[in-house]
Amino acid sequence: MLKIGILGAGAMGEEHSKCYSSINKGTAITPLLHSKIQLYGICDYRKEAATKLANKFKIKKVYTDPHKLIDEVDMIDICLPTKLHPKFTIEAAQKGKHILCEKPIALTLKEAEGMIQTAKKAKVKFMVAQVVRFWPEYITLKDIIDSGELGELIFITMNRDIALPVWSDKNWLLDNSQSGGVVTDLHIHDIDFTNFLIGKPVSVYSTGIRLDCRQACNNKGLYTQVSTTLKYPGKIAYVESNFLMPKGYELGNYVKAVCKNGFIEINNKAKHTLTVQKPGKKFTYPKLPKKDGYIAEIEYFINCILKNKEPKIVTPEDAKFALELVLKAKESLDTGRCLKLKS
Ligand SMILES: NC(=O)c1ccc[n+]([C@@H]2O[C@H](COP(=O)([O-])OP(=O)(O)OC[C@H]3O[C@@H](n4cnc5c(N)ncnc54)[C@H](O)[C@@H]3O)[C@@H](O)[C@H]2O)c1
Repeated sequence: MLKIGILGAGAMGEEHSKCYSSINKGTAITPLLHSKIQLYGICDYRKEAATKLANKFKIKKVYTDPHKLIDEVDMIDICLPTKLHPKFTIEAAQKGKHILCEKPIALTLKEAEGMIQTAKKAKVKFMVAQVVRFWPEYITLKDIIDSGELGELIFITMNRDIALPVWSDKNWLLDNSQSGGVVTDLHIHDIDFTNFLIGKPVSVYSTGIRLDCRQACNNKGLYTQVSTTLKYPGKIAYVESNFLMPKGYELGNYVKAVCKNGFIEINNKAKHTLTVQKPGKKFTYPKLPKKDGYIAEIEYFINCILKNKEPKIVTPEDAKFALELVLKAKESLDTGRCLKLKS
């Protein structure tokens, strides 16, 4: 039985708890997966937050000390503020525990490299939850493009929109030094997906907005909107993300991929979330895998542990490269320069 513990009982701690609870109810595609895992404990220094989730999702034990929970499980699922990812990933790896860590891997490349090397040395499985790589519409879009049925990709536009994230503990998300603002926190989803779909760009150019949102967060100059152009040989990607939608607006994501022989659209607010059109033909709506991306990524990681296989869909190096690109985006935004990447 794989004993699992969650660190952090905030927004993502709740989302992940819901996923394990769903797997425990037998929703996993892998036969009998629920009989092989146990969501053993949840930890938050706000005891009431951990207790609330433990009661809601029938989690056996509540902790306020992360070290104690790490000691008692086989796998740790890190849903803590980003600045804490390196510290607890490294501690868990050194204690021989497998680690699923929320994105972004870290705030600096040096920390990310330290996490990767420690996990390698300890021979534990380590995956960063770049969830878009598991999302049904995005996987299907990639499968269609990779199959070549629409011809070569020419350009792709990706958008991700949310209202100012005011839910986080002590508003850490609204502090550039703790979250990196919209660039490191939200933009990384689609930047990582362009890496997955197309590979390494030759240049990165970003423009964006830093907003004085002191009224909301007592923090001057938060990165709230960013638009990045990534150039590749023969193709281009335009990625835009923002924290500026009206209060109450639910996450929106939109993709338009234009290929030589057709286009694909993702719109999470439309009746058909994935649409394909070939020249002169009507729209088609490909059948999508039924599974939610969060459940899919968690199930995948658990299977990697149980089968002793290294996670391949997203490697720690992929997560580090996504961080490298968003840091380039931030540098471009700050300097106004288009940054070339070494080939
Ligand atoms: N994949 C996604 O779609 C997605 C969405 C949102 C956030 N995230 C990522 O998930 C991570 C968590 O974000 P969130 O929105 O859940 O934040 P959050 O603030 O809602 O939750 C973090 C929790 O950690 C707890 N905590 C903080 N320091 C602690 C410590 N030292 N010991 C124990 N508990 C501590 C807080 O009390 C809080 O409950 C971040 O890295 C974020 O970027 C991912």
